Amino acid sequence: MTVTGEAAAQEAAAFHFYEPAKGHGLAFDPIKSIVAPRPIGWISTVDAEGRVNLAPYSFFNAFSSRPPIIGFSNERESDSLANAKATGEFVFNLVTARLASAMNVTSELVPRGVDEMAMAELAPAPSRLVKPPRVAASPASFECKVLEIKPLTALDGTPTRATLVLGQVIGVHIDKAYLKEGVFDTAAAQPLARCGSLSDYAVVRELFQMSRPGMAPPARKAGG
Ligand SMILES: Cc1cc2nc3c(=O)[nH]c(=O)nc-3n(C[C@H](O)[C@H](O)[C@H](O)COP(=O)(O)O)c2cc1C
Repeated sequence: MTVTGEAAAQEAAAFHFYEPAKGHGLAFDPIKSIVAPRPIGWISTVDAEGRVNLAPYSFFNAFSSRPPIIGFSNERESDSLANAKATGEFVFNLVTARLASAMNVTSELVPRGVDEMAMAELAPAPSRLVKPPRVAASPASFECKVLEIKPLTALDGTPTRATLVLGQVIGVHIDKAYLKEGVFDTAAAQPLARCGSLSDYAVVRELFQMSRPGMAPPARKAGG
């Protein structure tokens, strides 16, 4: 629908509109502040020689539940991307409020082969099905096998600087302290989320419940 005349004038007065290809005209790019909060994928990988790498990715999410598929997008030729390409494996670790500073340390641009897990004084714990270790202090980690590595292209077909890594979750570790009656207690874990183009973060500390229309609240079940 295209708005014209008086309606268009009112719209323009109330809303800032821009076409990203032509610039946003604001002090900071608002996209990352609007697509917020974003979960942070704290991704551990190893290179072909087994050297550990750990880095945070907020262009991260889950895309399928059965099977569970998650992904993270690299906006440069990162070590995480190179390692995922070389080994076909990565591990997602949940970042919590308590781990915020350590997560930040692991975002530093360091030469390839430097172990950010050691740099942040985080103990590794062995994975069961893949080579990259998980972060022992994280309340939840997913062992993943790479499904697809997809360089992203723009509408006109030109390559962007982003490459999406999608992986299938083949193993899940959950600290039992955060399991309450078979449910992962998100509010107790206090996940950290990325919020803006500046240095903004949020912590999930409070939840509320709302059932989908016509659907009973999901039944609690063991296993499955
Ligand atoms: C909270 C947070 C989220 C980040 N998200 C991304 C992201 O989604 N994509 C990206 O390319 N870089 C992201 N970065 C920057 C990378 O973590 C950084 O470039 C890091 O050095 C990459 O490490 P690597 O080369 O070991 O993979 C993020 C940094 C922080 C602190």
